[in-house]
Amino acid sequence: MFEQHIQDLKKERLLREVLSRSSSAGPLIILGGKTYINFASNDYLGLAAHSDVVSAAVSAVKDYGFGSGASRLLAGGTVLHDRLERQIARFKQTAAARIFNSGYAANTGVIPALSSAEDLIFSDELNHASIIDGCRLSRAKTVVYHHCDMTHLAMLMRQRRRGRKIVVTDTVFSMDGDLAPLPALCRICSENGALLYLDDAHGTGVLGKGRGALAHFGIRPEPWLVQMGTFSKAFGSFGAFVAGAEDIVTWTTNAARSLIFSTALPAAAAAASLAALSIIRKNPRLIESAWLARSRIVRGLEALGYDTMQSVTPIIPVRMDTVQDALNLSRFLFRSGVYAPAIRPPTVREPRIRITASAAHTHVHIERLLELVKKWDKRR
Ligand SMILES: Cc1ncc(COP(=O)(O)O)c(C=O)c1O
Repeated sequence: MFEQHIQDLKKERLLREVLSRSSSAGPLIILGGKTYINFASNDYLGLAAHSDVVSAAVSAVKDYGFGSGASRLLAGGTVLHDRLERQIARFKQTAAARIFNSGYAANTGVIPALSSAEDLIFSDELNHASIIDGCRLSRAKTVVYHHCDMTHLAMLMRQRRRGRKIVVTDTVFSMDGDLAPLPALCRICSENGALLYLDDAHGTGVLGKGRGALAHFGIRPEPWLVQMGTFSKAFGSFGAFVAGAEDIVTWTTNAARSLIFSTALPAAAAAASLAALSIIRKNPRLIESAWLARSRIVRGLEALGYDTMQSVTPIIPVRMDTVQDALNLSRFLFRSGVYAPAIRPPTVREPRIRITASAAHTHVHIERLLELVKKWDKRR
């Protein structure tokens, strides 16, 4: 039934495949029996296999079992869920927070919950797919503004006067590694009485001493600011949260369908996130190591003449002229024991290799990557 679609994707070299590890998600992974240096993980702080995170999860399994049995509203949650929500709210300096099963579930549940058919959502054109899907599920009209273009956003807002306005944006753009201009966004939202929904999936644990993008810019949370973040990236765990004013979190709990109609996150995931939060609070040098790895990689790539686009974070895109170049470099690296995936349309407009830097990458891992990229360059 779908053979033709699959053939078309194959012909365009766009067919995606899944890969299965037989190791933890650390800087070294085992795929098909071979070890690779992994530059594809969002485990920025190397916490996914950290002994404290693992033992917290194991002991929660012993205490609470694995499955949570029901939705959060039907006693699927535990005291660990509550504790994580209180601690995340404190970490994000908000009045309240609610856990979601994933970043995808948070965006597709909360964005529709916060908007109605009379409202307008303004969405950055490079927002993550889960935000786009959240906007599609909402009954509000979505207006897309040019990437990080505040003049365009302000103009679009001036043209439209009806209903409540909600601006939604990634803080760190997941394929480009650039940062949304939060001070300007806050100013525009405050002037227009708009709600600002921030997807801080890649900022939480990485920016602002781990507190995220708002803290990075020194912006205090306001009642009209909603911060979503994930535990699946720098926290090395699983799940997500929405943090903000009490009324926003209470309303979301009553209206977000992905929360109400889905089984709660296992207690073990909450326990792992609590352990990760404690590590992040106590070890600021861990975050510094991720940034150091980032600068070594970027400096090395730029010295070789590569364009790392607008990246200012540990997400490092390496621009390629064609899809074929991206595939060739990624395959060459893979054959040589380095995993750095090619990202192609339709995920992005311009083909690239996406490298993520982690505190767990050693000097040797980074040198190997750079040495291979240099070698590939010579072979072209
Ligand atoms: C910006 C952004 N938002 C949301 C998500 C979804 O998060 P999760 O993987 O926890 O579903 C991702 C993950 O890829 C992301 O990059």
